[in-house]
Amino acid sequence: MKTINKIDECRVAMQELRKQGNKIGFVPTMGFLHEGHLSLIRMAQRDCDKVIISIFVNPMQFGPDEDFKKYPRDIKRDTSLAEKEGVDYIFNPSVQEMYGQDHKTTVEVKELSSVMCGKYRPGHFAGVATVVLKLFNIINAHKAYFGEKDYQQLVIIKKMVDDLNLDIEIKSGPIVREEDGLALSSRNRYLSGVERENATILYRCLNIARDMIAGGENDLEKIKKRVLEELEGNKFVRKVDYFDFRDPLTLQEKRRVRRGEDGEILAAVAAWIGNTRLIDNIMIKV
Ligand code: PAF
Repeated sequence: MKTINKIDECRVAMQELRKQGNKIGFVPTMGFLHEGHLSLIRMAQRDCDKVIISIFVNPMQFGPDEDFKKYPRDIKRDTSLAEKEGVDYIFNPSVQEMYGQDHKTTVEVKELSSVMCGKYRPGHFAGVATVVLKLFNIINAHKAYFGEKDYQQLVIIKKMVDDLNLDIEIKSGPIVREEDGLALSSRNRYLSGVERENATILYRCLNIARDMIAGGENDLEKIKKRVLEELEGNKFVRKVDYFDFRDPLTLQEKRRVRRGEDGEILAAVAAWIGNTRLIDNIMIKV
């Protein structure tokens, strides 16, 4: 496995792989790898000849009061995990290498970026889309792999690829959960012991919604009220940013289940457990 820090070197290495006829799979990450990332790496290995991951904590997608500085970083641990998985390349540029001194361009995927998490993290998805487009341009992979935990990010990246005619196939991998249901996230490490125990409430609430829909309830506002009571009744939940039902493709909000018309409905939640903002979602078959 080779670690590359420079953009030019990365381009040359990827061009060489292409020349040799390899299919390149790319897994973008911000590091602090967990089983969710590793599952995407394994998907990429099944589909492609060579796998490259990026490890870059992207300042552009963090708000001024967010956790950019304290976001967990451990390149040594990540390198050894990636090596064990059989990753071929790590692209690990510095902020200076990615943005230089005078970066002025951002990519904005309108509408999709201003709902759900976008409403509470203004500029976040422009930061994500911009860095992902830069990484796509540098690496020029055949396929890129994203986790479904960041479902809104996935929809936005797919739209960007479509709108900008990018020659890359976007693949997604399912959420990987702890045994008690908590979705894996690098931010889980911020949680204290009791917060960690109580963080499972997010997945429990998503399942309450699934069960109510399976039980015949069509009024999504009523389900939302029931779930919000549950969330707000837990003293470790400091704030609920949203609990929403959305169309999985357009992210338009849904207020009623239309049996026979809706195939699937996305239920998504963002809430603060103490000082940690967690997100989770499930797809509910109607
Ligand atoms: O999902 C993430 O870890 C990040 O948003 C990504 C896609 C690597 C862009 O920085």
